[in-house]
Amino acid sequence: MKAAAKSSMKSGHESSYKPIRVGLLGIGTVGSGVWEVLRRNADEIQRRAGRAIDITVVADKAIEHARSIVKGKAKVVGDAFEVVRSPEVDIVIELIGGYTVARDLALEAVKNGKHVVTANKALLATHGNQIFMAAQKQGVMIAFEAAVAGGIPIIKALREGLAANRIEWIAGIINGTSNFILSEMRDKGLPFETALKDAQSRGYAEADPTFDIEGVDAAHKLTIMSAIAFGIPMQFSKAYTEGISKLTQEDIRYAEELGYRIKLLGITKRVKAGIELRVHPTLVPTRRLIANVEGVMNGILVKGDAVGPTLYYGAGAGSMPTASAVVADLVDVTRLITADPEHRVPHLAFQPDRMSDIPVLPMGEVETSYYLRMRVVDKPGVLADLTRILADASISIEAMVQKEPAEGESKVDIVLLTHIAIEKNVDSAIRKIEKLRTVVGKVTRIRLEALL
Ligand code: HSE
Repeated sequence: MKAAAKSSMKSGHESSYKPIRVGLLGIGTVGSGVWEVLRRNADEIQRRAGRAIDITVVADKAIEHARSIVKGKAKVVGDAFEVVRSPEVDIVIELIGGYTVARDLALEAVKNGKHVVTANKALLATHGNQIFMAAQKQGVMIAFEAAVAGGIPIIKALREGLAANRIEWIAGIINGTSNFILSEMRDKGLPFETALKDAQSRGYAEADPTFDIEGVDAAHKLTIMSAIAFGIPMQFSKAYTEGISKLTQEDIRYAEELGYRIKLLGITKRVKAGIELRVHPTLVPTRRLIANVEGVMNGILVKGDAVGPTLYYGAGAGSMPTASAVVADLVDVTRLITADPEHRVPHLAFQPDRMSDIPVLPMGEVETSYYLRMRVVDKPGVLADLTRILADASISIEAMVQKEPAEGESKVDIVLLTHIAIEKNVDSAIRKIEKLRTVVGKVTRIRLEALL
């Protein structure tokens, strides 16, 4: 038999199943990518999934726009609830976003026995526990690869690829918009606002861009990864969130001079007392691979006890990369649709009756290193005062630089790097430093991670 004929031959398995019928809720940036990938790679996808995957109905409020994309190849409706209740739909793809309507739609889909594929990190981080519980009762799957880091298969890696490991920590650049802004500020010396506008015009930013720049979007994604890594429930409300809007060119430059790059990192770590769950600007040694993840790209470091550090890199936003993850979920769900629910991969990687109640630690209990910058009057005794306050708080100094004063300026910047310290001790030292008469204004505090 000729090779070409062989490759197009359907197996008995494949031909015995009808196409999977998919209802797509929302055909915007990601939805149109899903439509395109499914059509472009239909044959390969069918060979992988074992049966065809067809979007049979699309719901979008912008009906005319939706029609212009599907060109008569799927039904178009304005009411998404019609789709989640339809007996003619097997899998629902939720790409509407937001928390309220999206939650009602997901729960209604589950109630009607549909499997749900979603890219909605906000929904899962805040209502995931409720949705997974409902799905478990109904014996349906919720798949959410696209919710974290767009096209990077990080959920698959954490839940399946690293299943042998005790995961120690995850540190990720998981918001493309803020990473793009930081890269533009550093490379081109652009002001924050200009870089943000550029990211928005490229379609990377969330509908509410404060979610990107204030770390909320990253905290949603981190909450999901933390749950899967450690087998804990979603606890977004306990995540510490600090964004990049207060970072200055000065700190970006000083960090570079000291051999560090500032990145917005989502960090979750298992320590003796509990789980750290925090998003904040972080100094990372420039020589680490992750420090060189630039622009809209995402990069996630995962440290497992057996495998050691592993790094996942790729496009974390955008139409086609996110569609890549959505369609991979469609293939997964299609393959497992006839399996007994208890033989499927658990939603949060651990068996639902074996979840851990290890607490998420308050930020004051977190232990890390710090970059501290302060402006001081250049006169004798200033350094002695600073170092005494730090020593009293058990904070050890790793490096210290006093910058040259500007021409005719009597005040100078001092930059300190500390060894690992407890956050609440650092906070109390900063309060004391700010009260010194020789210190002008506020202390800038940025956390530092060696990522070893
Ligand atoms: N606004 C997000 C980002 C999109 O910038 O990474 C992907 O979740």
